[in-house]
Amino acid sequence: MRIPFIVGNWKMNKTADEALQFIDDVSEHLPDPKKIQSAIAAPALFLQSMAQKAQDTPLDIIGENCFYEQFGAYTGETSPTALKKIGVPYVILGHSERRLYFHESDEMINKKVFAAIDAGLKPIVCCDETMGREAAGDTIHWVVSQIIADLRGLSDDQVGQISVAYEPSWAIGTGKSASADQAEEGCYLIRQTIADVYSDELADKIRVLYGGSVSPDNIDELMAKPNIDGVLVGNASLDAEAFIKLANFQ
Ligand code: G3P
Repeated sequence: MRIPFIVGNWKMNKTADEALQFIDDVSEHLPDPKKIQSAIAAPALFLQSMAQKAQDTPLDIIGENCFYEQFGAYTGETSPTALKKIGVPYVILGHSERRLYFHESDEMINKKVFAAIDAGLKPIVCCDETMGREAAGDTIHWVVSQIIADLRGLSDDQVGQISVAYEPSWAIGTGKSASADQAEEGCYLIRQTIADVYSDELADKIRVLYGGSVSPDNIDELMAKPNIDGVLVGNASLDAEAFIKLANFQ
């Protein structure tokens, strides 16, 4: 049984005070994490204060990114081990904005996946397709090659610790979500790729999320699909009321 996973990704938004106020606003209204797991990925700047405040609430506070070394001379980067030590359980890796603005390659993301798992974090590995691929209709095989490259060399046990997010970049920040059928097709393909490369058992175990203009208006239809175990939500997760509705989807 895969527990539904509702993840907000704040990206570079909010201040520390607003982040702590958000936790006050939502924490009484979130479901039992044994039934529906809810999390917020926030800027590294205030993860520790958020994790402390959210400690006895249903909300997990998670990372938006980390580096592929644990420590060292890497100005501006975030240590996976340091994230784990402040109580962060998950970290998003390979988001399309990291690939676009910071030129993260599949090889770099693969190294980050290993470093996150070595530090005891559970990666949420994002795979994406460019607007061009979507226009060209080549939306399927490209997703497969990305998953294979990002997870290259992982053992079965390590793959069992990850989640994968299908985030067609043409749906990110545009207000134009993939249809539930399109999202299901992408998530199914990811699950099938895990089955082909690893095993049916692992494919059945890992959670596959959809991201791209998810809102309270479309989450119910998305979550009704058999291969969509959760969502990765940007804009709509910034609002406390909307996040409460997302986490309590029907
Ligand atoms: O990681 C989720 C994000 O990329 C989706 O953003 O604003 O389209 O929900 P948004």
